[in-house]
Amino acid sequence: MILETKRLILRELQADDDMPMFELDNDPEVHKYLGNNPYTTLEQSRETIASVQRQYAEHGIGRLAVIEKSTGSFVGWSGLKFLTEPVNNHCNIYDVGYRLLKKYWGKGYATESALAAIDYGFEILKLEEIFAAANIENTQSINALHKCGLTFMEHFDHNGIACNWYKITKDEWENKKLIA
Ligand SMILES: CC(C)(COP(=O)(O)OP(=O)(O)OC[C@H]1O[C@@H](n2cnc3c(N)ncnc32)[C@H](O)[C@@H]1OP(=O)(O)O)[C@@H](O)C(=O)NCCC(=O)NCCS
Repeated sequence: MILETKRLILRELQADDDMPMFELDNDPEVHKYLGNNPYTTLEQSRETIASVQRQYAEHGIGRLAVIEKSTGSFVGWSGLKFLTEPVNNHCNIYDVGYRLLKKYWGKGYATESALAAIDYGFEILKLEEIFAAANIENTQSINALHKCGLTFMEHFDHNGIACNWYKITKDEWENKKLIA
């Protein structure tokens, strides 16, 4: 699947994304609010790509590579994931998330890509609700989730990390689109 926004292309992750994926996950700042456990080997990135490709095959959805249209450069990943493992006691739900190379922070790309993914979720997949989780200290992520129209629901503990839980419903999304 491919999604397009004003400045970005979102396409499926592929095997030759391994180097930029490693650059992303090898960065301690990128992993600051993700458990502080950055990748140390290229093989870990290859396993991640293979795992996301299995999700495409099994669930028809998974995080997508974000490509900057103006340069063709790999920016990071963004989009929906079908969660089969419980997060905050929720399972078999759709979650929106993003992870960008540091040099692309502060350009609005997380929000722009997540909005496209949420729209796909409601308009094409006909979902009723989409969730998200973020470390309570991850203000950049929380800011982007709010701009995407998600609402804070509650705090929860995820593997020892204090997190916020967010949700947006189909009705809320349709209202947001009417206002926009
Ligand atoms: C979370 C993360 C993706 C957020 O990235 P980001 O670039 O800060 O997010 P946004 O897309 O919201 O863009 C932020 C800023 O870009 C600015 N910006 C610059 N040009 C812009 C443009 N043309 N359009 C829109 N915004 C623009 C905006 O001002 C915005 O800040 P503001 O909302 O305070 O005004 C990034 O910090 C990251 O990858 N972190 C590491 C991984 C991670 O923590 N992931 C989330 C796990 S829950």
